[in-house]
Amino acid sequence: MKHIDIKELYASPDKYVGKSVTVCGWVRTARDSKTIAFVEINDGTAFKNMQLIAEKGKVEEESLKSVMPVGTAIKAVGKYVESEKNGYEIQLEKVELLGACPDDYPLQKKRHTLEFLRTIPHLRARTRYFEAVFAVRDVLSHAVHGYFKRNGYKYIHAPIITGSDCEGAGEMFRVTTKDWNAKAKTESEYYKDDFFGKKAGLTVSAQLEGEMAAMGLGRIYTFGPTFRAEHSNTTRHAAEFWQIEPEVCFADIDDIIEIAEDFIKSIIRDTISACPDEIDFFDSWVEKGLKEKLNHVLNSDFGRVTYTEAVEILKKSGRQFTYPVEWGLDLQTEHEKYLTDEYFKKPLFVVDYPADIKAFYMKQNPDGKTVAATDLLVPGIGEIIGCSEREADLEKLKAAMTKRGMPLDGYTEYLDTRKYGSVPHSGFGLGFDRAMMYITGVQNIRDTLLFPRTVGTL
Ligand code: 4AD
Ligand code: MG
Repeated sequence: MKHIDIKELYASPDKYVGKSVTVCGWVRTARDSKTIAFVEINDGTAFKNMQLIAEKGKVEEESLKSVMPVGTAIKAVGKYVESEKNGYEIQLEKVELLGACPDDYPLQKKRHTLEFLRTIPHLRARTRYFEAVFAVRDVLSHAVHGYFKRNGYKYIHAPIITGSDCEGAGEMFRVTTKDWNAKAKTESEYYKDDFFGKKAGLTVSAQLEGEMAAMGLGRIYTFGPTFRAEHSNTTRHAAEFWQIEPEVCFADIDDIIEIAEDFIKSIIRDTISACPDEIDFFDSWVEKGLKEKLNHVLNSDFGRVTYTEAVEILKKSGRQFTYPVEWGLDLQTEHEKYLTDEYFKKPLFVVDYPADIKAFYMKQNPDGKTVAATDLLVPGIGEIIGCSEREADLEKLKAAMTKRGMPLDGYTEYLDTRKYGSVPHSGFGLGFDRAMMYITGVQNIRDTLLFPRTVGTL
């Protein structure tokens, strides 16, 4: 269908002003008076709508009437002109109905609540809010790839179906082709005649495969869907989310912290410069002061504190927290928020967590109690990155696994990376959807995903 993108019209007015142009799109608003009609359309290419002006008598009446309902899909022909109010607009000559939109269309009003829009995820891409969300999601994804490309990382594709649980938190979704009523006495008997001949699940993290790739390719990253059957019904947990996981050889914990900070700043900078209209929109309507916040992040150093110091700060805060603060217990969201929102007031790396509350693969510190791991906490959200130097010593790694009751024979290939030419290496995982929340100010992870999957909702 020959037509011009609205984005192109706004971008190159010199080429089109005074000429006849054809555009397509969905009607966002329409007003009618005796002498004139205004129809605003959007085709998804530009954040800004295009206004069509129809002088009565100049456009065939029946066809004009047919395109007035909000949500109608149309094709329009007219002269592209400058206008005082809108910058540019189209003086309508001819309009054609592509798809009618009956009046039970749910998006009649100009503004709807996010809760309501969550009930119609298949239509919400037709609202300004979600247009902005998906524009930023696209740009942010490319910014991620751009950063790693510029810095010599190889993009690898790790499997989604896997037999090993990376985080060891028992949150894997199972993958099976067996009938629901299959009978078996033991777990291995049950899975023996399943599709893979053993228990399989959806990946909770691509890290283990990433490490194996890095141990030959040097620097890699993955960027893919990740699945966790957590029963956390919060605004920052999704059962299916996207994770970015770089893995870097010959890098210790300090090196990877430096990389993580540089990476976060780089993707924020790229997004601000590629999506100025969308960021303005979020700044005005979603999080007041968003631009200032992001610029502050770009222009200041992230904080750094040890877990042990963080526990002291929390204890001295005089705050009544719901969850206890004690050395050896994990930090809860309320603790993370106090540290980053109120105490440090900027992104914060908390380093050297107790080994017992972290995963088996993290490098054991000389103190015998903590591991070289860090979480990056950001104001308003809490943890967005989980990061660590990996335990490179085969015997220490095996001991950590045995302590956790993990079957060593299920991880033979992983252990081979430590057996054959082990090297210091480090990596992190950034929750992409949480990064979206941070950069846009969107409060609920459900509003950063096209079709959010959360407990009880598919
Ligand atoms: O801290 P996590 O569990 O770390 C890992 O999976 C490591 N294997 C990463 C690595 O070192 N390669 O998860 C990493 C990040 C979290 O910081 C969070 O941003 C995000 O993934 N995340 C979730 N995002 C949305 N919904 C959930 N249910 C999430 N669980 C983790
Ligand atoms: Mg974590």
